[in-house]
This record gives sequence, C-alpha cells and structure tokens, in this order.
Amino acid sequence: MYDCILNEMQAAYTKSGDPSAKAYPNWRRYSKVAYVSGTHGNRFVQNYANDTGRAYGAFEKAGRMPVGSILAKDSFTVTPNGRVGVGPLFLMEKMSGGFNKKSDDWKYSMVMPTGAVMGATNGKNSSALNFCYECHMSVAEDQDSMMLLPEEYRSN
Ligand code: HEC
Repeated sequence: MYDCILNEMQAAYTKSGDPSAKAYPNWRRYSKVAYVSGTHGNRFVQNYANDTGRAYGAFEKAGRMPVGSILAKDSFTVTPNGRVGVGPLFLMEKMSGGFNKKSDDWKYSMVMPTGAVMGATNGKNSSALNFCYECHMSVAEDQDSMMLLPEEYRSN
C-alpha cells in the first residue's frame, strides 16, 4: 500500500514549496514498514532523516542532533472500507542555538495533504504547533526531543 501511495504523498506535499517535502523520499528510511502512530492521528506513518540527521539510525544512542538535521514522517489513512488517502507530513528541523528555547531549537512543521503548510515553529501559525514540542520535549534531555519509533519497526 505504501509503495502505491508514496508518489501521491510526495506530489501533494511538494505543492507546499518546502524543499524537504519534495526531497524526503530520497532520504534514508528508518522504519521497515508503515505502522500506526496513535500520537499522529492514528495514521500509518514512516520515518526518514536527511544525511545530516543520519545519527537518527542509532536511536537511543543518537545523542544531540547536529544543526541542519531534518526528520520527516509522512502519513496516510485507510478507511474501514479500504480507501487509502494522503495524510499530513510531519517535519522536525534542528535549527541553530537560540532559535527557540522552548522547542529545544527544533522547528516543527506540518504540511497538509492539500500542500498547505498548517504551521511552523517561529513561522506561520507557530502557536498551533506548540503541542508538537509539548509532547516531544517529554523525553530525556540527551535524547534531543526524539521520540523514536517502536523497536519492532526500526531499520537502520
Ligand atoms: C502526544 C505526543 C506527540 C505529539 C503531540 C506529536 N508527536 Fe511526533 N512523535 C511522537 C511519538 C511517540 C513518536 C515516535 C513514535 C511514533 O511514530 O508514533 C513521534 C515521532 C515523530 C517524528 C519522527 C522523529 C522522532 O521524534 O522520532 C517526527 C518528525 C514527528 N514526530 C513530528 C511531529 C510534529 C511535527 C508534531 C506536531 C504537528 C508532532 N510530532 C506531534 C509523539 C508526539
């Protein structure tokens, strides 16, 4: 199912003009298969990181991420009668120190299936995305706001 909808997801997200929305399918993927994420709307998701963020693959041992690391989580939905639809793209980008103390200098953003950017930390609708870091900041300081995926779905 994922392979069938990936092009459609990429095309939808690319309309946002965010370079990560177009590029992420070429990044390394750290999930083996799509899995349901209860914290991202019960949608099926997969996780990617750009080259700068490759330490993501060390999971709990990744440490603090370098500036320029981008983590991407695409998503799709399946209705009870089997209809598959594009869900939002969730992005986290590590910015330089001082960007936003409350978010641990991560810029969170969300691209809707229409290609509209729902919001971004320190950008449009910034406060609408505070809930992202309010949850992500609950991990230990040395895990740098990364929640990591369930072990059974990991791949590196
Ligand atoms: C209630 C908690 C919660 C909220 C709210 C939340 N997340 Fe997450 N996030 C998680 C969990 C748990 C994971 C890892 C497991 C999974 O995929 O479900 C994760 C994983 C991620 C990842 C992969 C990198 C990582 O941390 O391992 C990205 C990117 C991400 N979330 C972006 C977002 C964005 C953007 C928002 C807001 C629009 C958001 N998240 C809101 C809990 C949350």
